[in-house]
Amino acid sequence: MSAKIIDGKAIAAEIREELKKEVEEMKEQHGVVPGLVTILVGQNPASVSYVTAKQKTAHELGFYSVQDDQPEDIPEDELLNLIDKYNNDPKIHGILVQLPLPKHINEKKVINAIDPDKDVDCFHPVNLGRLVIGGEETRFLPCTPAGIQELIVRSGFETSGAEVVVVGRSNIVGKPIAIMMMQKGPGANATVTVVHTRTKDLASHCKRADILIVAAGVPGLVKPEWIKPGACVIDVGVNRVGEKKSEKTGRMIPILKGDVDFDAAKEIAGAITPVPGGVGPMTITMLMKNTVRAAQYAIGK
Ligand code: GUN
Repeated sequence: MSAKIIDGKAIAAEIREELKKEVEEMKEQHGVVPGLVTILVGQNPASVSYVTAKQKTAHELGFYSVQDDQPEDIPEDELLNLIDKYNNDPKIHGILVQLPLPKHINEKKVINAIDPDKDVDCFHPVNLGRLVIGGEETRFLPCTPAGIQELIVRSGFETSGAEVVVVGRSNIVGKPIAIMMMQKGPGANATVTVVHTRTKDLASHCKRADILIVAAGVPGLVKPEWIKPGACVIDVGVNRVGEKKSEKTGRMIPILKGDVDFDAAKEIAGAITPVPGGVGPMTITMLMKNTVRAAQYAIGK
């Protein structure tokens, strides 16, 4: 039987509707509008398109949003001063510095300069520490892992006691999603295994997974025979494997392929995310959720 296709666009739209209501309530009850600044250094085309999409969503949700474009050659100390300006701006609740940054800028320094209470990416070590401790301590969830967890829960999969296998150990996806799924609490309580490039037998681990989360960045890495029948498969891979002409605009657009062999895997899995249209649409929505949370914390301070 063919798997249920997990529609990330539809689930993201559902969450954005919920957020819109929260934003309206916040305006009515506290006169506060969530504020987000996205800082873009240089004009890397992929970064421009990500930042444009983030700003568009922020506008749609009724945020106060600022797009701050800086030249490719901005000195590091000027960028740090700019972050400090937004750290001290009460209208701004979330600060996002689009990565990657040019080579002359130390990314770690930049991430560490953001006020942890405005770190809506959840990249700051303080927020990652809070995430590890869990429960009340957690402030923000990193956007892609938060989107993955929502997709699993809203697709009706039981996580408590489930075998979750995470393929990949990046700081942005693999490590945080593993921690989130093992925590005590709703949408978690799973038994988690993390596998990576040095794991001896990837297939045997994947085959055990009730929920398989793949964030390896290797197109088509996971083969259908690695999937347990009925499993929930979340494919985080967004690999550019070529270009094609868009039917809508006539412009050249990238051909994207996930880390899972989708066509074959959907005949075995119980549910699976497509690429594109699965995890991707969720990431920006979870950034918006973090910005709403940041504004709520600021009200409560
Ligand atoms: N570059 C690619 N993805 C991201 C993201 O989620 N946050 C930031 N800040 N930069 C990115």
